[in-house]
Amino acid sequence: MTSKIKLQTLTGMHDILPQEQPLFKKVYKSVESIANYYNFQRIDVPVLENAEVFAKGVGNFTDIIEKEMYTFKTKGGDLVALRPEFTAGVARSYIENGMYNLPQPVKLFTTGSLFRHERPQAGRYRQFNQFNFEAMGDKSASIDGQIIQMSYDILKDLGFKNISIEVNSIGDGECRPYFKKILVSYFKSRRSSLCSDCQRRLKENPLRMLDCKEEKCQRVKTGAPQIIDHLCENCHKHFKQVLEFLDELELPYNLNPYLVRGFDYYTKTVFEIVEKNETGNNQLSLVGGGRYDGLIKLLGGRDTPACGSAGGIERIVNVMKGRQSKKSPKEEKPEIFLAQLGQLAKRKSLKLFEEFRSAKIPMAESFSKDSLKSQLGQANKMGIKWVLIFGQKEALEDFITLKDMDTGVQKEIKLDKIVEEMRRKIKK
Ligand code: HAM
Repeated sequence: MTSKIKLQTLTGMHDILPQEQPLFKKVYKSVESIANYYNFQRIDVPVLENAEVFAKGVGNFTDIIEKEMYTFKTKGGDLVALRPEFTAGVARSYIENGMYNLPQPVKLFTTGSLFRHERPQAGRYRQFNQFNFEAMGDKSASIDGQIIQMSYDILKDLGFKNISIEVNSIGDGECRPYFKKILVSYFKSRRSSLCSDCQRRLKENPLRMLDCKEEKCQRVKTGAPQIIDHLCENCHKHFKQVLEFLDELELPYNLNPYLVRGFDYYTKTVFEIVEKNETGNNQLSLVGGGRYDGLIKLLGGRDTPACGSAGGIERIVNVMKGRQSKKSPKEEKPEIFLAQLGQLAKRKSLKLFEEFRSAKIPMAESFSKDSLKSQLGQANKMGIKWVLIFGQKEALEDFITLKDMDTGVQKEIKLDKIVEEMRRKIKK
């Protein structure tokens, strides 16, 4: 018996359709140009890793690991996970490939798909794409500044105007344990006013209570102690330098004492870039990142300070889509159409097509249509001015008929001259 399964994308997953590709391409282009400018080299890490890479790196009691990671046993019995983020995988690669022997910092960037089994809602997908920067092996505050600046520059480059950089410092192994204690004692005395998740976080991950979005917890947290007031000297100095850097760069930031981020690996600086809506309230974050000085050691490497960020490409594209709903971005449209008739011409067309491709001149075709009329109709629909007509006679005598669709004028051109002639016509 065949069961009736409706074949469609899984909840939280989506196709990126051809008409959406230009906006994605625009984001990737901007990421690559900024990465190149700042000397970040491309790395690609596997989609699947040993689940321990993330459990150890991101932290067992974080939502990402506890609730959202796609984990499964392979046929060989290994516990593996689909990557929910890049940082832990890139850190694993830094250690595994001995990158500590290279001049530091090692600056890497990547892009690709991530997987988180989140509750689906606007801007939250179960498969989504990120661009990601990591600078490993440098403890100076200027690196934090550079990572924030690059992330901000990408959004600016893409035409974002209404964005704000939220920054905070969450201290390190020296000052955070003490801050956690005073935070827990503050929330403990108000336990009954907290949501059930925060009652659990009180034990497992008290810092996360600071960014709980539940209204009742928001009320409680307004009076909570702030970590900024409890940083050790080293973290305080580092944070001050990061802010001086941002001032120098004239980046519009907002000190946000509730920003803690959902990963255990962060130390010192954390930041997010958010798009503000009409009411001035912050919406979902577009970019998030921070310093993670303990991660590489935690994963078995040397003590290596590091800092990085990642941007959500779908979220960025969604805002760009809204902005450009009236005028969609111009794709590079071909200005030439190749119409062919008959078997010999069809065969020779493939070679001709390849010559245009290597000359980097875009050309449209409709190899599946047989009649000249329907091919000219297609060129017309696409708004193309120049049609190359390649029929049986042309193929036998090695010439091509060029038709100007605006005037209807036709002209014969030798086959070996056609690429040059067209290059002149469209000024490529
Ligand atoms: P994150 O804040 O989890 O950080 O993700 C970075 C960005 O990815 C977010 O600001 C958001 O735009 C996008 N994003 C996250 N989850 C989703 C989702 N479910 N659907 C769509 N977009 C999403 C990290 O991943 C860290 N690894 C960043 C980092 C790099 N820190 C240091 N280095």
